[in-house]
Amino acid sequence: MTTKVIPIQSNVRPPRVVPERYDGLALADTLGRGLRDLRISVTDRCNFRCTYCMPREVFDEQYRFLPQSDLLRFEEITRLARIFVGLGIKKIRLTGGEPLVRRNLDDLIRQLATLNVDLTLTTNGSLLAEKAVALKAAGLHRLTVSLDSLDEATFRAMNDADVGVAQVLEGIHAATAAGFSPIKINMVVKRGVNDAHLVEMARHFRGTGHIVRFIEFMDVGTTNGWRLDDVIPSAEVLRRIGAVFPLEPVSPDYRGEVAERWRYRDGGGEIGVISSVTQAFCRDCNRLRLSTEGALFTCLFGSSGYDLRTLLRDGADDATLRDHIAALWRARADRYSELRMAQTALPESARLRRVEMSYIGG
Ligand code: GTP
Ligand code: 5AD
Ligand code: SF4
Ligand code: SF4
Repeated sequence: MTTKVIPIQSNVRPPRVVPERYDGLALADTLGRGLRDLRISVTDRCNFRCTYCMPREVFDEQYRFLPQSDLLRFEEITRLARIFVGLGIKKIRLTGGEPLVRRNLDDLIRQLATLNVDLTLTTNGSLLAEKAVALKAAGLHRLTVSLDSLDEATFRAMNDADVGVAQVLEGIHAATAAGFSPIKINMVVKRGVNDAHLVEMARHFRGTGHIVRFIEFMDVGTTNGWRLDDVIPSAEVLRRIGAVFPLEPVSPDYRGEVAERWRYRDGGGEIGVISSVTQAFCRDCNRLRLSTEGALFTCLFGSSGYDLRTLLRDGADDATLRDHIAALWRARADRYSELRMAQTALPESARLRRVEMSYIGG
């Protein structure tokens, strides 16, 4: 069976395919990688305008976000999620944009919590103080909070939305009190912007049980003005933190884990580094991404998604949907981060279009 991809945000119908009986064996793509992790973007909107993700000059008042009718409804998401679980998905991560701006998100979490998967969410933390208890009660298992600096001026300059550090720390505090622990804290490190605050971030969360992950700034999308010079390699992050708090490596939790784990030698806890630029981890990439409007992306750097929503709304049965998804995975050959350097040598106009992070989620 073959599948075709369609452009992002297009309403072109996917081709009819002859249904194939899924044989129940673990799915593998063309590079032998299994399917394990599903990331579901529940909104393309966000109340932040992080300079590296949704720069305000692009995502301004004129920017057209998706209309409500284009978004997958919660029942549609849950139906698809159930099919994905049947294909081997073990973890579902809700992303955005900012997932907590989607109305009644706890209703979706309640539905997804009935599936037997690790259920987790990535948020900017600004609305967490008011929502943490409801998220926990709805059945969310884990949380990741983005926080790029503890320095007030730097954080405000990076989020460009007039949100201060205290608001996010209150969110983390409320989430801890609600029973989320450990929480992962994501810091995107950009040279000359927030790298001076690396060690302070490590120090702040040492001994709390929470795990800070330092992320290399990536060239996701086409609007964030990425340059290789702005990337601080993870090796440098580890050197700088290790000089103050000696570190030792920890083995991965599972095959294909994005973050490389390290712990403080004195027992102060754990940190992680995510090195998509200097040490690509495509070889074990087991991640599939479902956009807000129901397009399926097999890579964070994809130029097109596969339109599941049309199939869904045309009345496809579960077996047909499952066969399309399985075929898409079997045909997958993505390994963008391993090929990045050849691409980044080209001028932007000559490069493949890349989906925005705010559209597809982290
Ligand atoms: P756990 O479920 O706790 O293991 O989380 P995770 O390690 O999957 O981390 P998370 O989803 O928070 O991802 C952290 C960051 O890593 C994201 O915000 C991205 O910046 C980056 N990242 C995640 N997945 C990919 C990927 O498939 N490719 C690339 N290049 N970067 C990724
Ligand atoms: N490079 C690396 N990480 C990014 N994120 C968003 N844009 C980028 C980028 N250009 C991360 C954020 C957040 C998650 C949603 O994705 O820090 O943790
Ligand atoms: Fe919003 Fe997260 Fe993007 Fe920042 S990184 S603009 S918080 S979606
Ligand atoms: Fe997976 Fe694409 Fe990221 Fe490589 S670049 S790890 S294939 S999502």
